[in-house]
Amino acid sequence: MSKDSAYGILKRGRIAGALLYGPPGTGKTQLARIISCECNAALISVSGAELNRKYVGETEKFVKALFKLGQMLYPSIVFIDEADSIFPSRDRITLEYDRSRINQLLTEMDGFVQSSNAPFTLLATNFPQHLDHAVLRRVPSLLHLGLPLLETRKRIFDLYLCQEILHDDVDTWILARKTHGYSGSDIKNLCVQAALGCRTFVTREGKRMRHLRDEHFHDALRRCSSTVSRTSLAEIHDLAIEHDPHSLVATVEDEVDKGGIFERALRAPALQDMDLD
Ligand SMILES: Nc1ncnc2c1ncn2[C@@H]1O[C@H](COP(=O)(O)OP(=O)(O)OP(=O)(O)O)[C@@H](O)[C@H]1O
Ligand SMILES: [Mg+2]
Repeated sequence: MSKDSAYGILKRGRIAGALLYGPPGTGKTQLARIISCECNAALISVSGAELNRKYVGETEKFVKALFKLGQMLYPSIVFIDEADSIFPSRDRITLEYDRSRINQLLTEMDGFVQSSNAPFTLLATNFPQHLDHAVLRRVPSLLHLGLPLLETRKRIFDLYLCQEILHDDVDTWILARKTHGYSGSDIKNLCVQAALGCRTFVTREGKRMRHLRDEHFHDALRRCSSTVSRTSLAEIHDLAIEHDPHSLVATVEDEVDKGGIFERALRAPALQDMDLD
């Protein structure tokens, strides 16, 4: 999307969109907000389930309206979360109507992509293997957001605990080691649970504040386990190998950087998020 790269092949063969995929709670939805914020683009955010309308023809109208709005708000991003529910793989669906509807939606999107003020289409899913192949072809960039590695987990703890008063017995490296298999969202929940369970206080600058000790995290760890199932991880891993083998390497290398983006986003002013509701 950057202006610097908008020439030659990248201008002619305009990149229509990207897919963010990965297990739940790895920050896909949050990343969409961050991208729009960093690119100064309006974010038109909708979930696949919301797009699935009951009456014949309504979904197509809704999608058309979304892209029209995107054109009007250019530069913009049309973000379709849980995209697998609106674009299921055609061999998984039985109704002829659903099949033709997917075709029509894709044709609609292709039409918009040709225009110079077309919105960038960003899709997100936890089930990339359930997405229609024609959709995968249209989004040449597949970005895999995997579970955070040790160093990133430590940074996520540091990020969420930076305003808390921690006792000397709290070591975020140890917490990171104990949370193998946890997503960013699981770690955030764990920190919230630890804070909710804390009954020890200290006074700082005249204010009564929580004093978090290792025991609070120990209790929280017993209550909050990882929410990501092995099956979902294995399926996502298979797709990453098939479509984007480098993404697994990239996941390892980019984890640290992803933490950086999240840190910036948390400090960023109001996000330009436009929910259609
Ligand atoms: N790497 C990370 N660093 C900091 N916070 C994170 C990270 N990953 C996830 N989170 C936090 O976890 C919460 C949930 O993230 P988000 O909803 O974006 O996940 P998701 O991948 O869209 O999940 P789902 O697949 O269930 O929709 C957000 O508050 C987000 O900031
Ligand atoms: Mg999400």
